[in-house]
Amino acid sequence: MLSEKTLFLFTLLLLLYLPFRKNAQQNDTGKIYYISIGDSFAEGLKITGPLPGNRTFPAYSYADALHYLLSKKYKNLELLKYGRGGHTSDDLINKQLNKTIDFVKSNSGLTKLITITIGTNDVSKCNSTNNTCYYNKLDNLKNNLNNIIIPKLKEAGGEGVKYAASTYFWYPSLEDTLVDIYNKNEFKVADLRSIINFSNNTICNYTYWCEYHDVHPNTDGVNAIGGLFYKVLGESLLV
Ligand SMILES: *[C@@H]1O[C@H](CO)[C@@H](O)[C@H](O)[C@H]1NC(C)=O
Ligand SMILES: *[C@@H]1O[C@H](CO)[C@@H](O)[C@H](O)[C@H]1NC(C)=O
Ligand SMILES: *[C@@H]1O[C@H](CO)[C@@H](O)[C@H](O)[C@H]1NC(C)=O
Ligand SMILES: *[C@@H]1O[C@H](CO)[C@@H](O)[C@H](O)[C@H]1NC(C)=O
Ligand SMILES: *[C@@H]1O[C@H](CO)[C@@H](O)[C@H](O)[C@H]1NC(C)=O
Ligand SMILES: *[C@@H]1O[C@H](CO)[C@@H](O)[C@H](O)[C@H]1NC(C)=O
Ligand SMILES: *[C@@H]1O[C@H](CO)[C@@H](O)[C@H](O)[C@H]1NC(C)=O
Ligand SMILES: *[C@@H]1O[C@H](CO)[C@@H](O)[C@H](O)[C@H]1NC(C)=O
Repeated sequence: MLSEKTLFLFTLLLLLYLPFRKNAQQNDTGKIYYISIGDSFAEGLKITGPLPGNRTFPAYSYADALHYLLSKKYKNLELLKYGRGGHTSDDLINKQLNKTIDFVKSNSGLTKLITITIGTNDVSKCNSTNNTCYYNKLDNLKNNLNNIIIPKLKEAGGEGVKYAASTYFWYPSLEDTLVDIYNKNEFKVADLRSIINFSNNTICNYTYWCEYHDVHPNTDGVNAIGGLFYKVLGESLLV
């Protein structure tokens, strides 16, 4: 058992330490970091003319839009974009996760936010959303997020990092699965179905679908998604 005196001293030390720690973490010279991981939504992809050519990446993505909004308050916030177009959750584990974890660990306490968009490339090669291929891929995605990606990020980042993730807006069962995983792991969730919808003109306003038959968000869509992340994060980064 801890004695009352030890407890008191411990509390006092914590109180003395906390404000000092906060200053050291957010000052005018030192940087704090936001790491964006995932697929083409995270990396950004711009379509400048008819497909299959005319795609450019990396490009302005929701991570840039969110970073812009947050940097009004957190001027020393720097964005690191590790996402890559076409990546599945397996690719994220093999090509983005260690880089992210290494950065978070070697800049202890300075990473404040991590966002993720991943999953559609896992299932997109299946011919249907109601076949064995799809369900196997979905199970693999669930396992990768629940048992590898999320626990490893949390282990590296501890309590000081805020986490947010997005869905997409086309395979209902994929979106529902992602929402469920992220909610259970206490991530903030930007459910893109709340802003982009194939049944009304948001699909034309916010994506390249109507012009080029491509679901990637255009500049207005990128800004809308960045705004949705900002809203679900609730503005405060430092806990
Ligand atoms: C500001 O932050 C940087 C990086 O963490 C640190 O090296 C520096 O000592 C801090 N400066 C002050 C005045 O707290
Ligand atoms: C790119 O777009 C231009 C028109 O802007 C078109 O002429 C060209 O064929 C396109 N390139 C490819 C590879 O599709
Ligand atoms: C990531 O790092 C872990 C721990 O150091 C290591 O076991 C694993 O092989 C690495 N993965 C890749 C894809 O490099
Ligand atoms: C998808 O359907 C095509 C044509 O029926 C078939 O050749 C291919 O193997 C199928 N792919 C998967 C992953 O089931
Ligand atoms: C999925 O397939 C099963 C069996 O073929 C069928 O009973 C079910 O209605 C299908 N579900 C959807 C949503 O299409
Ligand atoms: C259009 O879709 C968006 C995104 O789902 C939704 O927020 C909006 O309410 C819809 N508009 C109408 C008129 O239903
Ligand atoms: C999508 O748009 C349709 C038509 O405007 C609307 O009825 C539906 O509620 C919207 N879905 C969402 C999730 O807002
Ligand atoms: C989409 O754009 C049209 C034309 O600019 C505009 O009238 C409409 O209000 C927009 N709708 C949404 C949901 O952004």
